[in-house]
Amino acid sequence: MVSADGEPEERMIEAALRPKSLDDFVGQRRVREQLSLVLEASRMRGRSADHVLLSGPPGLGKTTLAMIIAAEMNAPLRITSGPAIQHAGDLAAILSSLSEGEVLFLDEIHRMSRPAEEMLYMAMEDFRVDIVVGKGAGATAIPLDLPPFTLVGATTRAGLLPGPLRDRFGFTGHLEFYAVDELERVLRRSAGLMDLAVNSAGFAEIAMRSRGTPRIANRLLRRVRDWALVHGVDQIDSRAASAALDMYEVDARGLDRLDRAVLQALVGKFHGGPVGLSTLAIAVGEETETVETVAEPYLVREGLLGRTPRGRIAMPAAYEHLGIEPPAGYAAASLSARLDEDVAAGSGMAPLFTGDDVDG
Ligand SMILES: Nc1ncnc2c1ncn2[C@@H]1O[C@H](COP(=O)(O)OP(=O)(O)OP(=O)(O)O)[C@@H](O)[C@H]1O
Ligand SMILES: [Mg+2]
Repeated sequence: MVSADGEPEERMIEAALRPKSLDDFVGQRRVREQLSLVLEASRMRGRSADHVLLSGPPGLGKTTLAMIIAAEMNAPLRITSGPAIQHAGDLAAILSSLSEGEVLFLDEIHRMSRPAEEMLYMAMEDFRVDIVVGKGAGATAIPLDLPPFTLVGATTRAGLLPGPLRDRFGFTGHLEFYAVDELERVLRRSAGLMDLAVNSAGFAEIAMRSRGTPRIANRLLRRVRDWALVHGVDQIDSRAASAALDMYEVDARGLDRLDRAVLQALVGKFHGGPVGLSTLAIAVGEETETVETVAEPYLVREGLLGRTPRGRIAMPAAYEHLGIEPPAGYAAASLSARLDEDVAAGSGMAPLFTGDDVDG
């Protein structure tokens, strides 16, 4: 219910709610201002904009921003994704058919194949690709010039991108979770488009349970709308919103079943941790990547889960949220684990945020 991943059907509904311009895009002030400057400058220079990398958890607006970039540059937009490009030839076909100034949106760029990635380096830097014809000893590379284009890459896992690829982006925008008041604005805008009557307290209640994510906010709004329709409620207030969301098992902090399962496993099976991410994922019957990109970022931000060099730990707030008494001395132990993490981060130890499992 509060997974930030969009189902195919939801992606269609989303299109209708997507802001079309930077001014309409709520929140992310820093990224918006910086991006607006990049676009304005390239418009003044009469050039295509620098390549842009957008990173951040699902549902925060990466695809939306890519579309806005094309719209603001008055340029056509081509959409593809890392998993769709398995051979360098797939990428060559796309690149060689781009028109001048076109915006190429490459979603999930971290999932592109290695050979395609290497072709992309040259295309980004020199607007050139080598098309390889033939096989083995007789193979020859035919250089092909490309028109200037703007690559917009999106990834939920910036840490997985190789340095040389990251370095070729002129601008990197990292999207953060939204504050509650920003989500209220997202909801107000959506309710307007959906012709729904919701009062301020109603918006606040939904926003608080939206895990800092506009996609989830919009989805919860639709569920509350359904509930109100069935219960004959015309004006949605906080009571209606919370009754509806309780029914969908979205708790007061916005945690859903997976989030609670992760915390419960950490606290119950692993006595608060530390435990490796893949072990934790197996314990809740989910893919490691799902736990890492969907559940974990929000749990970390909420101070419920901690990442340490030795694995994931439950923070004291997790016990409190689950209504379970932490073992004696737990707060002190988790604090020292957190200090370890700071030390490791300070010494430039990489594995912490790259998604590599600590226990392999
Ligand atoms: N800043 C915003 N203001 C208003 N609505 C937003 C904003 N950001 C996102 N949304 C809404 O949230 C939905 C999801 O956004 P989007 O598809 O851009 O997320 P994403 O980051 O690309 O997610 P994913 O990683 O799953 O591809 C969109 O339908 C859009 O309406
Ligand atoms: Mg997207």
